[in-house]
Amino acid sequence: MKYNFGLIGYPIKHSLSPWIHKQFLERTSLQGSYSIIEINPDRSFEEAMNNLRKKQIDGFNVTVPYKEKIMHYLDDMDEQAKKIGAVNTVLCKDNKWIGYNTDGIGYVRSLLHKFPSIETGKDNKILLLGAGGAAKGIFHALVFNEFKNITIANRSLDKAENLIGTNEQAKVITLQEAEQLVDQFDIIIQTTSVGMKPRPEETIISLDRLKENSIVSDIVYQPLLTTFLRQAKSLHSFVHFGHTMLLYQAQYAFEIWTNKQPNMENLDQELQNILEG
Ligand code: ATR
Repeated sequence: MKYNFGLIGYPIKHSLSPWIHKQFLERTSLQGSYSIIEINPDRSFEEAMNNLRKKQIDGFNVTVPYKEKIMHYLDDMDEQAKKIGAVNTVLCKDNKWIGYNTDGIGYVRSLLHKFPSIETGKDNKILLLGAGGAAKGIFHALVFNEFKNITIANRSLDKAENLIGTNEQAKVITLQEAEQLVDQFDIIIQTTSVGMKPRPEETIISLDRLKENSIVSDIVYQPLLTTFLRQAKSLHSFVHFGHTMLLYQAQYAFEIWTNKQPNMENLDQELQNILEG
C-alpha cells in the first residue's frame, strides 16, 4: 500500500510538515507521499473540499485559516477536537472524514518525552501564558493527561475564563499577577506569538522571580531560543523548545493515519538544524 497524505492551509509553501512526514515514512518503512495543497482564501473552500474528496487521500493536516472551517465537512470528530473546536488532522477512511486535533496532545507528549519525571507529578503547578487557539489545545490536553493544577494568565481575562469553562480546578490570573507569582510554578508554558520574529526581543512577562529548576517552555520556534527561554536559562531553569511540539503533533497524526508510531530519535536535533539554517 502507498499512502497519500497532504496539508491544506494558506500560506503553506514553507511548511515543515512534508519534511517531518517524509522522515516518519522512512522510519516506519512505509511507502507514501505528503503533498502541499495550498487553498487560496479567494477560492471556494467548498469546491476545494469536493475536489479533495475525489482524490485517493488517506489523511491530511489542516492549518490556518481552515482549522474551524473544515469542521463542516467532517463525518465525525474526536473528543479533543470537539472540546477545542478546531481540527488539525483528518483521517479519510471508508469514505468518511474523521477530524482530530493533535496539537495539544502532541505538545504534552513532547514535554513528557523531554522531562519524563513530570509524569509522576501531575500535581505540578502549571502556569499557561495566553488563551488563544494554541493555549486551548494545550489546556485540554493537560486536563486529558490528568494534570490538576493549572493557572492561566492572559491579557484579556474573559478569554481565559471562557477557556477554562466549568473546570473547577483551573484558575485565571492577570499577566501582572503571573509576573509576581512566577516563583510558585513548576512548569511555565508560553503559548502566544509574543517573542516571534520579527520582534524576537519581546517577552510576555518577566521571569525575574523564577525559581531554580523549574521548567520553562515556549511554543515559539522562530527563533528557537526566544528571549523568554534565554532569560529562563540564565536563571537556571530547564527549557523546552517550541519546534518539538511540531514534531509530536505530527507523530500523533501519523499514528492516526497508519497505526504506526515513528521513532523520534535525533529528529528534534535534525529539525533544529533546518530551522537554524
Ligand atoms: P493562536 O491561535 O496562535 O494561539 P490567537 O488565538 O490569536 O493565536 O491568540 C493569541 C494569544 O496571544 C492570546 O492569548 C492573546 O492575548 P489576548 O487574548 O488578550 O488577545 C495573546 N497575545 C498576542 N499578542 C500579545 C501581546 N502583545 N501581549 C500579550 N498577549 C498577547
